[in-house]
Amino acid sequence: MRVFVVYCHPSKKSFTHDIKQEFLKGLNDSNHEFIVSDLYEMNFNEVISENEYEREAYYKTEIPVADDVIEEQRKIQESDAIVFIYPVFWTEAPAKLVGWFDRIWTSGFAYNPNPKMKILKKALFIVSAGKTMESLEETGESSAMRIVMLGDRIRDRAIEKEMIIFDGTTHWDEEQRKERMAEHLNTAYKLGLNF
Ligand SMILES: Cc1cc2nc3c(=O)[nH]c(=O)nc-3n(C[C@H](O)[C@H](O)[C@H](O)COP(=O)(O)O)c2cc1C
Repeated sequence: MRVFVVYCHPSKKSFTHDIKQEFLKGLNDSNHEFIVSDLYEMNFNEVISENEYEREAYYKTEIPVADDVIEEQRKIQESDAIVFIYPVFWTEAPAKLVGWFDRIWTSGFAYNPNPKMKILKKALFIVSAGKTMESLEETGESSAMRIVMLGDRIRDRAIEKEMIIFDGTTHWDEEQRKERMAEHLNTAYKLGLNF
């Protein structure tokens, strides 16, 4: 499969970065082809402009789509699957990735009229969370993240869709972090290997 990986974390020293590396190693070892958009490294502009807003809110539908948006859309059209890798920031993705959706999911591509985005075989979200799964479930935060990403942003744009949460990764609790780290990294590798 050809996999498009959208990765978003400000630091290369992060756990999320290591998760991304393990996942890519797994993809590589199972001979999947992949391309990566590292949103911080490419300095992706996540802020929707007034022009873009006017286009997407159907005020001025004739406004053309920006080149950097077309480039990301091309990567989707040339792939079979999409994978998002990021840390949870306030029960959401980092702003750079939220803005990626604001700008890339354009009218005529991801939604009406006549959306031309291909239906992907798979959409996978690999998310690292400081909190434990217990806490995320108790508050409903993990459900909220799934509803927003899988329910709204992916909806019927992929046949299979899933969110995997690597929990308990905060530095606040080094003991818990160390305990979970090795297991999470191993799971990330296997996710790539068995993609
Ligand atoms: C601004 C900010 C907001 C965060 N919000 C949450 C949150 O809402 N829920 C959560 O479980 N963790 C939250 N975290 C923790 C990150 O998800 C954590 O940094 C990540 O899971 C793992 O560590 P890494 O940054 O080393 O990759 C937040 C971290 C930052 C910096």
